[in-house]
Amino acid sequence: MANVILVGAQWGDEGKGKIIDVLTEQSEIVVRTQGGNNAGHTVFVGKDKYVLHLIPSGILRKDKVCVIGNGVVLDPVGLVKELDGLAKLGVTVTPDNLQISETAHVVFPWHRELDGARESRKGKDRIGTTKRGIGPTYGDKAARVGFRVIDLIHRERFPVRLQERLAENNEVIKALGGTPLDYDAILAEYTAAADRLRPFVTNTVVYLHEATRRGANILFEGAQGTFLDIDHGTYPYVTSSNTTAGGASTGSGVPPNRMDKVVGVMKAYTTRVGEGPLPTENAEISDLLHGMGREFGATTGRARRCGWFDAVATRHAAMVNGIDELAITNVDGLDSVKTIQVCVAYEVDGRRLKHLPSDCEILAACVPVYESFPGWQTPTDHITRWEDLPVNCRHYLLSIAQMTGARLTITSVGPAREQTMFL
Ligand code: IMP
Ligand code: MG
Repeated sequence: MANVILVGAQWGDEGKGKIIDVLTEQSEIVVRTQGGNNAGHTVFVGKDKYVLHLIPSGILRKDKVCVIGNGVVLDPVGLVKELDGLAKLGVTVTPDNLQISETAHVVFPWHRELDGARESRKGKDRIGTTKRGIGPTYGDKAARVGFRVIDLIHRERFPVRLQERLAENNEVIKALGGTPLDYDAILAEYTAAADRLRPFVTNTVVYLHEATRRGANILFEGAQGTFLDIDHGTYPYVTSSNTTAGGASTGSGVPPNRMDKVVGVMKAYTTRVGEGPLPTENAEISDLLHGMGREFGATTGRARRCGWFDAVATRHAAMVNGIDELAITNVDGLDSVKTIQVCVAYEVDGRRLKHLPSDCEILAACVPVYESFPGWQTPTDHITRWEDLPVNCRHYLLSIAQMTGARLTITSVGPAREQTMFL
């Protein structure tokens, strides 16, 4: 399988966790390269449901090595909770199957505090973040005042730097009308977490290079989706990392010429959680999906906004990621729909656009031009072979893949491993 980058081709929550879990079978190492515990990957193994936030989904398979790469922002207290949660479910995590990059940046309570405070001040213009402190942590990284894991686990350096950084951030918190944070409490909590994580911390760049040299297959698991990318997304309604394929290289230290394939994951329709433009948003399909009990966020529990499939957007995603192969998930969500709409172009001010406009205000004003497809109106969730899907369903899936401009290789009709079909 060689080195594969897996990305979300929409606004996140495309069902990547599930596809990653299936692809992990063919890889030896699974790497997270960006984002933090804003992500929520839901995986079912038998009847057991796992929601992973920071640890790659590969952890659920025996004999796979998971890596939290340098491009990730890591909340050490959250990570320890995740380790404890996995242990309760009988999943053993040791330094043999989890490696944490020493240069990943660390999320602190002030980052969460500032994330929340900025959102409140923005009022109706808020981004709708997960309030996990992701933006402020990447902000500190870019401003060169961040803590890396290597600083967190350094027994002498950590208390001193914590004092410096907390003093400055408490000034900002006070200026924004918040309550300053307590040094001793953070020191105790972070020192305890550092002690737990220290054995896992290593130079993952060197590890991944050695693995590449001996021909190991590596899967780079993307978090969030293309239109939440800090450069290519619907800025400012984005997350703070590069969620597109290039992020896999910068976030791991494995160079672009060692990457072999990009797999894009997209839903058979569109969803988005948080604020920002979503041209195909549609109340009918939102109600339908929420009524089925689906499309609620794995991290924050928020109801996701839903709409028809947007081929203008996914074509753009195929372009910026270089998507070679597509996985289409959540096909069963459309089982009961009589006529399915697909957005094939946008119209704005009497003009027809075939590309996503960069200006968010223009995107918000775009009216989708739809093409209709006959639904299949029969359950698909029990189907395990592509050939057995209804004709209308196969036609729909092949059509949206063709509009996106990549080859359809995987499709999925439910959360279980068995509900995944290879073409
Ligand atoms: P942040 O990443 O918490 O700063 O949130 C920024 C935007 O990205 C918000 O619209 C979030 O809802 C969205 N977002 C962040 N992580 C995810 C994810 O894993 N899935 C879907 N949306 C996400
Ligand atoms: Mg998710």
